[in-house]
Amino acid sequence: MTKFSTRCVIIGLICLAFICLQYNFLFRVYFPHRVRTFRKPHPDALIIGVRKGGTRALLEALNLHEAVRIVRKETHFFDANYTLGTGWYAEQMPQVDAEEQIIIEKTPGYFTSKNAPKRVHQLNPKMKIILIVRHPVFRTISDFTQVYYNKLEQNKTLPILSIESFKIDEKSGKEVINLDYKPVSNSLYDVHFENWLKYFDLSQMHIVNGDVFRANPLNELRRLETFLQLPRQIQASQLHFDRKKGFFCFENLKKSSKIHCLGQSKGRKHREVSEKTQKKLADFFRFHNFQFFRLVNRTFSWDL
Ligand code: A3P
Repeated sequence: MTKFSTRCVIIGLICLAFICLQYNFLFRVYFPHRVRTFRKPHPDALIIGVRKGGTRALLEALNLHEAVRIVRKETHFFDANYTLGTGWYAEQMPQVDAEEQIIIEKTPGYFTSKNAPKRVHQLNPKMKIILIVRHPVFRTISDFTQVYYNKLEQNKTLPILSIESFKIDEKSGKEVINLDYKPVSNSLYDVHFENWLKYFDLSQMHIVNGDVFRANPLNELRRLETFLQLPRQIQASQLHFDRKKGFFCFENLKKSSKIHCLGQSKGRKHREVSEKTQKKLADFFRFHNFQFFRLVNRTFSWDL
């Protein structure tokens, strides 16, 4: 009797193993993309900023490429969440099907973070770094607009750019720029980029002209495909200019949902800022812009 039941258990186990093998075989035949997925420990490329430079649109546009997988949320790993550890960071990565597929993460806070360059280098000295910049005066106004609406939502006192951006110097009694004000200091591209150059060679970093990208994404995307060593694939037909929004929307062939435009907080009307304030900001940024051009060996049309 005992022998009989042992035999039954063994036969049962063999049958179960057989069914599992069959199931696995059929699964591989019908869902090959599901079986072979795996997780990379970290991204291959980072969009480090600049905040309000067009980072979300750039990430979405790069995601049109077959070989690109993106981290949807900003992880803030190298600035705010570093103590959570590399294991946590790995868990944030999307699955990939092949080693050739690349993962891109974007957190604009990395660009202005003192610690991020060193930490990124420690994790992967070969990381490809992407920075999208934009006219610093309009970037500042965009940043300010975002801060303004955040404060409005939280019922807080509303800021005025011309007041926040300048202060009286105690020694000279003259009006100077307020470098403690983030919407201003975030636009000092030279200062932040110099930190990155301490750890990464310029050849490892790619600068996207955000103003050009916004108006004509394809050229900037072509240059990025080359930088990321991806086959040329993103097509003009995947980029749809939405007249109502005034921006390009993206047709991702990997997804069933058709054309995707960015949300309301991207490309919204800026808070009104007087010409005088714009001019004062432009005068202040001029020196920093030239320093940045020197660092990146390239110029941008940022006159006002
Ligand atoms: P504005 O809101 O000042 O127009 P980020 O994603 O880094 O926060 O950048 C937001 C900016 O992306 C927007 O700033 C907008 O100008 C720019 N942008 C570029 N291409 C865009 C697109 N296709 N859709 C929406 N915004 C886009």
